[in-house]
Amino acid sequence: MLHFALRRSQNIHYQHVDVNKDARAQAKGQQPSVLWFTGLSGAGKSTIANLVEKKLHAQGRHTYLLDGDNVRHGLNKDLGFTDADRVENIRRVAEVSKLMVDAGLIVLTAFISPFRAERRMARESLAEGEFIEVFVDTPLNVAEERDVKGLYKKARRGELKNFTGIDSAYEQPESPEIRLDTTQLSAEQAADAVIDALKLQGIIG
Ligand SMILES: Nc1ncnc2c1ncn2[C@@H]1O[C@H](COP(=O)(O)OP(=O)(O)O)[C@@H](O)[C@H]1O
Ligand SMILES: [Mg+2]
Repeated sequence: MLHFALRRSQNIHYQHVDVNKDARAQAKGQQPSVLWFTGLSGAGKSTIANLVEKKLHAQGRHTYLLDGDNVRHGLNKDLGFTDADRVENIRRVAEVSKLMVDAGLIVLTAFISPFRAERRMARESLAEGEFIEVFVDTPLNVAEERDVKGLYKKARRGELKNFTGIDSAYEQPESPEIRLDTTQLSAEQAADAVIDALKLQGIIG
C-alpha cells in the first residue's frame, strides 16, 4: 500500500527572504567566500587553515573553519571512508559552506576531498569567485614521514582500509587558485601566502 509518494523536492519551492547574502556581507564589511583546502592526510590542511583563520580573525574578519575530523564527529558521523561515503561527506560540507557564505562568512574547509568531481561540485554551487581552491601540496612520502596520527603506519599494515594515497585515490587539483608547497614553505609562511593571495583577489582589503 502506498502511504505517500516519493516526490521529495518536487513540491518544494524557494522561499524569498529580504535579508540576503549581500545584506549580511555588507553588515560584516567583507566578501564572503570559501577557502577550500585539499591535500593528503598529514599534508598540513588543518595546521595552515587554523593559522589563516587566526590571521583573519585578528583583522576582525568573520570566519568559520570546518575541519574534516570535527565534522566527522558530528554532522557526518554516519559516514565512513568508502568512495560513496567520501562523496556524501563532501556534498554535505559543500552545502554547509554555501549556507555559511550566505550568512556572510569567510569559510575555511580542511578536508582531504580527494575527488575532482566533488571539488568541482562545491565550486559550481557557489557564485563566480567565491570558491578558492587551496592545494596543500605535500608529496606522499613527506606526509607519510610526518604521520602525525600514525594512520599511514596502520594503513601500510593493512589495518586501515580505503586510506587516501595508499589504497584510495587522490586526484590533484589541475588549476587551484592557490598552491602551497609545504616542502618549501613553513606552515606560517604558507598561511601568509594565503593572506597575500586573498588581498590580491580582493577578498580582503
Ligand atoms: N610546511 C608545513 N606546513 C604545514 N604543516 C607542516 C609543515 N611542516 C610540518 N608540518 C606538520 O605536518 C603536520 C600536518 O598535519 P595536519 O595539519 O593535521 O594535516 P592534515 O589536516 O592535512 O591532515 C602537522 O603536525 C604540522 O606541524
Ligand atoms: Mg586535518
